[in-house]
Amino acid sequence: MSAAVPRRAGVIGGGRMGAGIAQSFATAGAAVTVVEQDEAAAAKVRERIAGSLERAAGRGLLPAAPEEILGRLAFVGDVAGLPADADLVVEAVPENAGLKAKLLAAAERVVGADTVLATNTSSLSITELSASLARPDRFLGMHFFNPVPASALVELVVPEATGRAVVDRALAWTAGLGKKDVVVKDSPGFASSRLGVALGLEAIRMVEEGVAAPEAIDDAMTLGYKHPMGPLRLTDLVGLDVRLAIAEYLHRTLGERFAPPALLREKVARGELGRSSGRGFYTWDD
Ligand SMILES: NC(=O)c1ccc[n+]([C@@H]2O[C@H](COP(=O)([O-])OP(=O)(O)OC[C@H]3O[C@@H](n4cnc5c(N)ncnc54)[C@H](O)[C@@H]3O)[C@@H](O)[C@H]2O)c1
Repeated sequence: MSAAVPRRAGVIGGGRMGAGIAQSFATAGAAVTVVEQDEAAAAKVRERIAGSLERAAGRGLLPAAPEEILGRLAFVGDVAGLPADADLVVEAVPENAGLKAKLLAAAERVVGADTVLATNTSSLSITELSASLARPDRFLGMHFFNPVPASALVELVVPEATGRAVVDRALAWTAGLGKKDVVVKDSPGFASSRLGVALGLEAIRMVEEGVAAPEAIDDAMTLGYKHPMGPLRLTDLVGLDVRLAIAEYLHRTLGERFAPPALLREKVARGELGRSSGRGFYTWDD
C-alpha cells in the first residue's frame, strides 16, 4: 500500500486523542479543521498541540517548524464548519454512542460524496454507529493509540458494509502518518482492546486473590514476556473507570469471561481511577 496524506482532514473533538490525531495529520502535511465545543476548548487544544510540537521539535522529530505545522490547523465550534472537500473526517468525542452517532450524521450532511468518515471509538460497534449514516459504505473505525504522535499503530476496524476503496484510502493515510496498520473485522473490543482488557482483568483478579503484589505481576509480564509495560500500570494509565466501562461492554457482548472483578468496581467507586486521580494500583504524584 503506497503512503498518502489527506489534503484536508477534519477531527471532531480535540481531547487527548483528537488533539493527537490532528497533530499527526498536520505534521504529515494535511490542513486540519478541529471541531470543539467552544472557543475556550479550542484554545486549550491549540495550546496542547503547540506544547507537544515544541517537545517533538526539541527531540528533532518534526519535518517542519512547529509554527508552520500549527498554521495548518483551523478551529471551528460546530461540525457545520467542516470543509466540504475534506478527504477524511475522524470523530474523537467521548465514548458515548448517541453523541457519536449524532455528530457523524451531522458531519455527513456537510461533507462531499468523496469524504471518508471514521470513528476513533475504542470499543463501540462500528456497524451500530453507522446506522445513523446515509452511506455506511464510506465509514470505518480508525482506532488510534495514546499518545497518538508517538504511537506506531492504527487499528482499522472494518464492518462488512465498508467499501474496499475506502479501506484502501485509510490504509494509505495510515502509512502516510508513518504508522503500521492492523485490519480487523468489526467485533467487540476489536483486537487490541479485547486482548488488552482480558490481560488487565486477569491481573486484577490475581491481586484480588492475593496471588502477588501489583509490582510482581507487572514484572512478570515486562521482564518475563517483554511487554513494555505491565497490565496493572497500564490500567492506571488508561484509567480504571475507562477500563471498567469497556469490560462491562465486553461482558455484555462476549460473555462471562469479561465480567469485571469486584476489586475494579470497588476502586472506581472509591475514586481510585489511576494516574488521573493520583491513585490506582500504584500511587502517582506527578
Ligand atoms: N484516551 C485513550 O487512551 C483512547 C485511546 C483510543 C481511543 N480512545 C477513544 O477516543 C475517543 C475520545 O477519547 P479522549 O480520551 O480523547 O476523550 P477526551 O474527553 O479527552 O476528549 C473528548 C473531546 O471531545 C470534545 N467534545 C465533546 N462533545 C463535543 C461536541 N459536541 N463537539 C465537539 N467536540 C466535543 C470535548 O470537549 C473533548 O475535548 C473516545 O471514543 C475514546 O474511547 C481513547
